[in-house]
Amino acid sequence: MRLAGLLKAGMVVYLRGDLGAGKTTLVRALLHATGFTGRVKSPTYTLLEQYEVHGVHLRHFDLYRFRDENEWEAAGFRDEFNGSNICLVEWPEKAPCLVPQADMEIMFEILPVGRNITICANTATGRECLISLRN
Ligand SMILES: Nc1ncnc2c1ncn2[C@@H]1O[C@H](COP(=O)(O)OP(=O)(O)O)[C@@H](O)[C@H]1O
Ligand SMILES: [Mg+2]
Repeated sequence: MRLAGLLKAGMVVYLRGDLGAGKTTLVRALLHATGFTGRVKSPTYTLLEQYEVHGVHLRHFDLYRFRDENEWEAAGFRDEFNGSNICLVEWPEKAPCLVPQADMEIMFEILPVGRNITICANTATGRECLISLRN
């Protein structure tokens, strides 16, 4: 809930971790915290789901099945990173050189009980968000 309140328009956030680590679950929680009441589907096959909640434009990518680099532009993915959409990206490593740099990266590690989550910031925007999250 706190992270949802800190995400700024235009931010790119990578979600890293094995299948089942909790990436989609976090996106679902972020959307619900923002006030979205509908169903949040995993974009496993569609690669992208789009949301607009109270004027916040959120894009949820799951690039696990992304194969064809030509698809990036054809599908309009490049245009989604437009400086105003908040883009949450699962499996960014499946489209290297195509996904823009992340402001923040959230890494999930499955433990015998629960999860370990590490968040790092790569840009000034990301650092601002991370500092507010820690305070
Ligand atoms: N923090 C968590 N603690 C316990 N179970 C979790 C957690 N996050 C996700 N899960 C469970 O793990 C399963 C897969 O989560 P999901 O978010 O779809 O993973 P991913 O998107 O990383 O592949 C779901 O059944 C979910 O309920
Ligand atoms: Mg997922």
